[in-house]
Amino acid sequence: MTTLKLAVLDGDGIGPEVTEEALKVLDVLAHETDFSFEYERADFGGAAIDSSGNPFPDSCERLVKASDAVLLGAVGGPKWDALTGNQRPERGLLNLRGSLGVYANLRPARFFDSLCSASPLRADLTADVDFVTVRELIGGIYFGEPRGITEGPDGRVGQNTMIYSESEILRIGRVAFETAMGRKKKLLSVDKANVLEVQRLWREVMTELGKEYPEVELTHMYVDNCAMQMVTNPAQFDVLVTGNIFGDILSDASAALTGSLGMLPSASLGDGPGLFEPVHGTAPDIAGQGKANPLATILSVSMLLKHAAKRPDLSSLVDDAVDAVLAQGLRTGDIATGEGHERMVGTEEMGGEVVHQIKTLTSSRKECA
Ligand code: IPM
Ligand code: MG
Repeated sequence: MTTLKLAVLDGDGIGPEVTEEALKVLDVLAHETDFSFEYERADFGGAAIDSSGNPFPDSCERLVKASDAVLLGAVGGPKWDALTGNQRPERGLLNLRGSLGVYANLRPARFFDSLCSASPLRADLTADVDFVTVRELIGGIYFGEPRGITEGPDGRVGQNTMIYSESEILRIGRVAFETAMGRKKKLLSVDKANVLEVQRLWREVMTELGKEYPEVELTHMYVDNCAMQMVTNPAQFDVLVTGNIFGDILSDASAALTGSLGMLPSASLGDGPGLFEPVHGTAPDIAGQGKANPLATILSVSMLLKHAAKRPDLSSLVDDAVDAVLAQGLRTGDIATGEGHERMVGTEEMGGEVVHQIKTLTSSRKECA
């Protein structure tokens, strides 16, 4: 058995509070099962701007590259909003993704039965929602050149470039088809092929790649239509693949469907260490108050266990523990609906209950074995 080397980047806002609870979950797994891990922290994002003037310092880059997986809280906040370009915490996140080469971002949107009334949509629309967005993460308009703001004859001009090469489309396409093979064998590719050449290439390459996966039913949808369908008929989706910026936008919508952005985990995968982070941001309004929902980060640990540690058994254990805690009625503010059986808890208590559930589940499984 090998020891997983984890780099922990707390980041800003509620980041440190939620990663703390996620580490407790890993601790209890190390205590109760044969899993073993070690971790090291580094400043990242706004915290790193404060300590070193750079949101992604070299020391942080060395640490993440030497690790087996990276656990990230969240980055950014009003304190650093006035900074521009390379000085912004968000730039640190993009550089981290680029440096790790994590081109495939998996964002599952799963509906939790016990949170049905937290969703803004009617229960009949959301009950069967269970899909995953596969977002291309290190290309497209986020990274395309040329970019910048220049002086033109009629004043300033802002420019970004949406660009995808065939090989970039193929590699994200393969992840998406493989993901579909492990689920219902249905893949929806989302593009804007009716207007943009780069998106026409996207559709052509996805269609060609589809020939290698005859078992997968591939369909295409324009992104505007997809945004509409996501709020009118979200249960139709299973695996959805799209480029960087469309994936950014659609995955926020998918997170809201489940009742809270505070519930959505993510995994960013490439050929080296993977990056695991909750989709929610730094929530500066509640930072430092012990109110944040740690479940998206704990569910990101579940994805880490599955994808980086190759321990699907432990990943399911964490998922089951989260389900159990929700079924008991424990709620942080973001997922509270005011129903009678709910009990409002803070970050620490929510994390503590997940830990407690893991202990209960492992001891009952040991007894059964
Ligand atoms: C996300 C975020 C990031 C993105 C920001 C913070 C750079 O919105 O992970 O979805 O746009 O990718
Ligand atoms: Mg986003």
